[in-house]
Formats: sequence, C-alpha cells, structure tokens
Amino acid sequence: MSSVKLCSVKLNDGFFMPMLGFGTSAPNKVAKSEVEEAVMKAIDVGYRHFDSAYLYLNEEEIGRAIQKKIADGSVKREDVFYTSKVWGTFLRPELVRTSLEISLRKLQLNYVDLYLIRIPVLLKPGEELFPKDEHGELIFDTVDLCATWEVECHPYLNQSKLLEFCKSQDIVLTAYAALGSNSGKEWLSKNNPVLLEDPVLSAIAARHRRTPAQVALRYQLQRGVVALAKSFNEERMRENFQVRDFQLTPDDMESLDSLNRNIRYFVDPLFSRHPDFPFSDEC
Ligand SMILES: NC(=O)c1ccc[n+]([C@@H]2O[C@H](COP(=O)([O-])OP(=O)(O)OC[C@H]3O[C@@H](n4cnc5c(N)ncnc54)[C@H](OP(=O)(O)O)[C@@H]3O)[C@@H](O)[C@H]2O)c1
Repeated sequence: MSSVKLCSVKLNDGFFMPMLGFGTSAPNKVAKSEVEEAVMKAIDVGYRHFDSAYLYLNEEEIGRAIQKKIADGSVKREDVFYTSKVWGTFLRPELVRTSLEISLRKLQLNYVDLYLIRIPVLLKPGEELFPKDEHGELIFDTVDLCATWEVECHPYLNQSKLLEFCKSQDIVLTAYAALGSNSGKEWLSKNNPVLLEDPVLSAIAARHRRTPAQVALRYQLQRGVVALAKSFNEERMRENFQVRDFQLTPDDMESLDSLNRNIRYFVDPLFSRHPDFPFSDEC
C-alpha cells in the first residue's frame, strides 16, 4: 500500500480519498498565477488531494501545475485526487456533463476523482441523471449516491450531528474552512472571532509544541473528517501538512468539542435571505 493510501479514507464507491486536502480558493485580488505556483509547491510538500471548482476560475492554472509535476516525474495522475464542483447554473441534467467537460478541458485531465454539487439544496433536478428501475423508481436513495459532503467545519462549528448522520450512512464528511478561513474573502463574515487565536486551541497547541492550525487540522483527522487547508505560503503549507505525527488526547478532543458555538464564517447574503435557507439551524 502506498503512503498516499495509508493517510486516506475509503469512500462508499470503493475509491480512496487522502484525509488532508489542499484548498485552492483565494480572494479575487490574488493573481491566478499564484495558484499554479502553490499547487506545484504543494505537490512537492506531499499534498495529493486538491479541492477546486468551476466557480474558482483557477482550473486552467491547477491543470497546468498538475501536468508539469506529472511531466517532471514528481507524481502520476493516479496519485492525485482532484475534486471539482458543478456550479448552480449547470444543474439541469443535460448541462452537468457540459460543465464537467469544460472543467476537464481546462484541467487537461480525462477524469476528476470527485465531482461535487456546489449548491446541494438543488439536488433534486440532478436525480434525473441517476439510474432507475423498470418502474421508474430511483435504484438508490440520493443519499446513498453521495460519497462525501463538504461543509464548513471547524471547532467553532464542529457539525457533530451531521458527522454522526454521515457516519451512519457511510458518507465521509469533508471540512472546509477547517482553519477558520480568515482569508480576507469578500463574502466572509467580518465580526466573528479568529479561530486560530482561540485560547483553548492555543493552549493545546503549546502543550503539544504544535501550532493552532496543526491542532485544528489534527482535530478533524481524529474525528474521521477529511480536512481541507488553503495556504499559498510554503512555510504554512508545510506546517499544515505536518499533522500526522502527533496525537491529541481524549481530553484535548473534549476541550475542542466544547468550543462549538455555531459560528459560520461563510454566510452568503444572497442565499441567507432565501426562506428555505437551511444553515441558520443549530448544528
Ligand atoms: N465546498 C464549498 O462550498 C467550499 C467553500 C469554501 C471553501 N472550500 C474549499 O476549502 C478550502 C479551504 O477553505 P478556506 O480557504 O476558506 O479556509 P482555510 O483553509 O480555513 O483558511 C485559509 C486561510 O488561513 C491562512 N492559513 C493557512 N494556513 C495557516 C497557518 N498554518 N497559520 C495561519 N494562517 C494560515 C491562509 O493564508 P495563507 O494562504 O496566506 O497562508 C488563508 O488566509 C478552500 O480553499 C476551498 O478549496 C469549499
């Protein structure tokens, strides 16, 4: 078994997903060339799981980075786990394939490892794509077809109820904003506390001679949650990758669980005004 496999989780479709993923979404002011550089460095550091989307408008750069690292022998295509996401304007069944093909062309790849629905509140129309029996009934429940749910998740929003549900359904939970985001993105809430400055998180980090970011990521891995971390800074990229060689104690995990405050960094004002907006509920 390769080292990539050892740090991976088996999805319900039988494929393996590395537990630590590299986030590629950056504020609009960041030049796209930085994404290309960052992905190449990330591959050198050891990341094999890359998270992007049609919407991030960076798939050309990520594709170039992956192709260059394949060409110089650093990785093979099959070592890389790449996630893309269909955006809400392509959810009509006949458009999903078009969206995927646009991403693949930009990436210069012939497959992606995971294709997520970016706005899953609109899951229903996509059901038309799923296999049906002779009576026209879906062969699988749509939940059965999901390999992973990618949601905002960190000690201030630990999603413990959702995690329990996902585990009961053999769905892997993936955490975005696992470091509390704090990325200066235009749509992030400005008035929330900064996760990486939390005193409990910092004290646990100090006890382990680690950083708050490493503890925030390790917390997810020990709960069986795949964690995404975005950094285009090589030092922080390395720091975030070094989370597999220490162990949080049960007491640490309990203290981190107790930080849950239902704080969402991602609250898009466009969606949150919708009457069926689901994310105001307690998690
Ligand atoms: N499915 C979805 O709807 C969805 C939504 C949001 C995000 N995502 C995915 O999840 C990824 C991660 O989320 P995110 O980028 O919002 O937030 P994040 O990974 O929680 O945090 C990124 C921010 O933390 C900083 N940072 C990284 N490592 C650090 C460290 N060790 N110490 C201190 N600061 C550190 C980064 O700055 P530097 O770059 O300067 O280091 C950046 O400002 C995204 O890139 C994207 O791929 C998915």
